[in-house]
Amino acid sequence: MSRRAKELSKPLKVIKAVGVPEDYDVSRFVGEEYKRIFNLIFKTFYYQFREGVKRGIKGFLLYGEPGTGKTSLAYAVARELGKKFKDVYLILVDASDIARPLYGESEIRIVEIFEESKKLMGYTIILFDDVESIFMSRGREGIESWHIAQDNVFFHMLDELDTSRIGVIATTNWYELVDKALIDRLYPIEFKPLDIDTALAIAEKRCRELGVPYNRVKEEITSMNPLPRSAREVERIVIRHYIEKLERLEVI
Ligand SMILES: Nc1ncnc2c1ncn2[C@@H]1O[C@H](COP(=O)(O)OP(=O)(O)OP(=O)(O)O)[C@@H](O)[C@H]1O
Ligand SMILES: [Mg+2]
Repeated sequence: MSRRAKELSKPLKVIKAVGVPEDYDVSRFVGEEYKRIFNLIFKTFYYQFREGVKRGIKGFLLYGEPGTGKTSLAYAVARELGKKFKDVYLILVDASDIARPLYGESEIRIVEIFEESKKLMGYTIILFDDVESIFMSRGREGIESWHIAQDNVFFHMLDELDTSRIGVIATTNWYELVDKALIDRLYPIEFKPLDIDTALAIAEKRCRELGVPYNRVKEEITSMNPLPRSAREVERIVIRHYIEKLERLEVI
């Protein structure tokens, strides 16, 4: 097989929902708003799959700042659906799965992804992660014609989607770069920066898991200006305290 052909047939990242790591279990996530969004998405897919709704909603576009839990939520939804149905799959797609150097190849790849989800016996969530780098707005200045063709194929595949078996979740932190046609097809949900209570709750949980004294972390977070905006930022702070603890204990 030529290198070219091999690249085109690079296997898709398909994982069984029951194999999604426990780290992504919904019970591990903190915050009322996060749980509300989880429920909205999970219950919609669960309903459409259970009732066999073929022309339901295609899925959701999760947008918001980095580290606010968009990708994790998609994993958590797949994991939870895996508890309800026997065969649930998660297909992971990012720009590297689609970008192809030759004209026309990216379109083939997009069709392949949707065809693959049809072939899987069961239910599938397709996650298009950081979607702005895959499907740029067609109205953008300087956008190449191949990009427009690629977006059109994607929208066509979405229009054809059998929602009784397949659901799409797309994520982005660049809402304004996402093609309007995608926003029309997927239900947009904003992930807002953390409020202080949620930030502290995340910190407390991580401190407990890592055996880090929470008081000092709490002090640091509440005295920050600006306050941390994402769960990832909070995790980074707890991890720094954890490393400091290991250093004090001369473990490292
Ligand atoms: N509500 C939450 N409770 C606890 N942990 C959370 C929460 N939201 C996010 N996290 C944690 O924060 C980290 C970042 O989450 P994730 O990668 O899903 O963010 P993202 O929005 O996809 O970021 P990016 O836009 O950079 O891709 C993960 O370790 C995740 O487990
Ligand atoms: Mg992400």
